[in-house]
Amino acid sequence: NKDVLILAIESSCDETAAAVVKNGRTVLSSVINSQIDIHTLYGGVVPEIASRKHIENINPVIELALKQADVTLDDITAIGVTYGPGLVGALLVGVAEAKAIAFAKKKPLVGVHHIEGHISANYIEHPDLEPPFAALVVSGGHTHLVMVKDYGTYEIIGRTRDDAAGEAFDKVARAVGLGYPGGPKVDKLAKEGNPHAIEFPRAHVDDAPYDFSFSGIKSAVLNYINSCEMKQIEINKADLVASFQNAVVEALVSRAIRLTEEMHIKKLAIAGGVASNSALRAALTRECDSHGIQFYSPSPILCTDNAAMIGAAAYYEYMRGTRHGYDLNAVPNLKL
Ligand code: KG4
Ligand code: ZN
Repeated sequence: NKDVLILAIESSCDETAAAVVKNGRTVLSSVINSQIDIHTLYGGVVPEIASRKHIENINPVIELALKQADVTLDDITAIGVTYGPGLVGALLVGVAEAKAIAFAKKKPLVGVHHIEGHISANYIEHPDLEPPFAALVVSGGHTHLVMVKDYGTYEIIGRTRDDAAGEAFDKVARAVGLGYPGGPKVDKLAKEGNPHAIEFPRAHVDDAPYDFSFSGIKSAVLNYINSCEMKQIEINKADLVASFQNAVVEALVSRAIRLTEEMHIKKLAIAGGVASNSALRAALTRECDSHGIQFYSPSPILCTDNAAMIGAAAYYEYMRGTRHGYDLNAVPNLKL
């Protein structure tokens, strides 16, 4: 049997996830235990609680993933695990678990970068997608424009100088009282608003045309809310979040399209939690179409944190010969 079966583990933030992935592209099972209900009580992810919940959940999640794939650990070719970036205590649970299984079952251990995982979600969704392509990675912790030169070979072209895109969504959502996580709620409410109602600043970073800055937009939204409250003007929340979202989407789309043009690359993929934003998807679909670029996006369940994407990334790392030892450690600020 030449099939490569990866058991993948993801625990970098508030999702405990395990998956079994065949040959990098076929998901045999994908189990996600979200802790969102607990963290919502606190308005955001509490690292200490996340670690404890990962410890409680990781064994049952892995057992379920194996069961749903109808395999045992003996059938698995290698263990893939996210070892960074992320919350150190959360990452450590997955890494320790992966090392223990690898040791006990004498299986190769393959550490994966979380962002590489997000990008690789596209390999699952689009069996025809192969490097090179440009990728826009937008999540709660990251905003990167990346050139995927080959499997496992990346060049970061642009990044955020301050807040991540998802972070800006979450902060604005909190300011208008939409709750956590804010992205999906802003997305929904924005559908009822006018995206051109309020003109928010589009920040540019001098000498770094591909870098992003979202703290200025976020502050402008907060200032707008404060000044309305002072003047006792009622705020149209739908218009406000639609205008905010429009500013963020414009910043993301303009740089992504510019990159494909300058690099003469005809393929653009998106990834990360914010990639499920409907306005971003619509704008990229439209712009890619008019520029003759093939646009790739994972379905929403593959956009937010999951282990199937880690399995896809681990497969290509495994095929490239990447192996980690039992000294593999969690690296909270791991570089791509
Ligand atoms: O990739 P992800 O699950 O976790 C990280 O690795 O950060 O991304 C979570 C982020 C959160 O900030 C959440 O608000 C945002 O993705 N998000 C969205 C949408 N769905 C999730 N942001 C905008 N629109 C959405 N539909
Ligand atoms: Zn993520």
